[in-house]
Amino acid sequence: MPILEALHVRKLYGDFCALDDVSLAVDEGQFVSIIGPNGAGKTTLVNVLTGLGRPTAGRVRFKGEDVAGIGPVRLAELGMARSFQLVNIFPGLTVAETIAVAAVSRLGRGGRLLASLARDAEVRARVEEVAELFGLGDKLTRPARTLAQGDKKLLDVASAFALHPEVIVLDEPTSGVSTRDKNAIMEVLVEAAKHMDVKAIIQVEHDMDIVFGYSDRIVALHQGRVLADTTPDGIRADAEVVATVVGKRRH
Ligand SMILES: Nc1ncnc2c1ncn2[C@@H]1O[C@H](COP(=O)(O)OP(=O)(O)O)[C@@H](O)[C@H]1O
Ligand SMILES: [Mg+2]
Repeated sequence: MPILEALHVRKLYGDFCALDDVSLAVDEGQFVSIIGPNGAGKTTLVNVLTGLGRPTAGRVRFKGEDVAGIGPVRLAELGMARSFQLVNIFPGLTVAETIAVAAVSRLGRGGRLLASLARDAEVRARVEEVAELFGLGDKLTRPARTLAQGDKKLLDVASAFALHPEVIVLDEPTSGVSTRDKNAIMEVLVEAAKHMDVKAIIQVEHDMDIVFGYSDRIVALHQGRVLADTTPDGIRADAEVVATVVGKRRH
């Protein structure tokens, strides 16, 4: 059984069809990259896969359970976490507090959230573990807004890992950072995933060096349809995909 699957998913925004009969099955152990030009439907697919939006038609299943529209809290309880294309830094929070908010939501501490954090050893241990893994250990007391862009992206990914997910879905985890920083982020991400026994990674990524360097499998979207779903070599050999998706990237 696939750990995460979309079956004949269709997503309409009014009359506009953002996803048209998209099916996708991710197995344990896979690192899947979703590629495609701007507006292809990548973020919409990530939203549908992570229970943020309901598909207009079709199904989304995580570990066999229907997750359409279930929302982030229930999703984390089931064992899936995601990051967003645009980093959501809470300007008033430090690095430690940002990771703690994520950890707390998984550990189920509601109520007086921030007030209780300082004395919550379990949360603190989780924060330190994740911060170390992501190279943010010496920046815990820094206001998140003062981090460099690369560290903001790392913090966002780290917050998703703080949920101790089985499956992690990342929407452009390296967007807006230099090539060197992109590679550093990917290395840290892959190490963290190994360390935390993450069973599958699905990412949206524009940089084809990163896509080819890290994926076992690539799903190419174009105008809301799956144009190809194959290995990196399969993509390289597919002239239509190369012309439509790879050749047209803006940089
Ligand atoms: N909430 C929305 N309402 C209307 N149209 C949307 C909405 N979100 C996305 N779209 C449209 O759906 C298409 C796919 O968007 P998106 O999934 O963000 O693409 P990508 O992430 O591949 O760039 C785009 O044409 C976009 O303008
Ligand atoms: Mg997008």
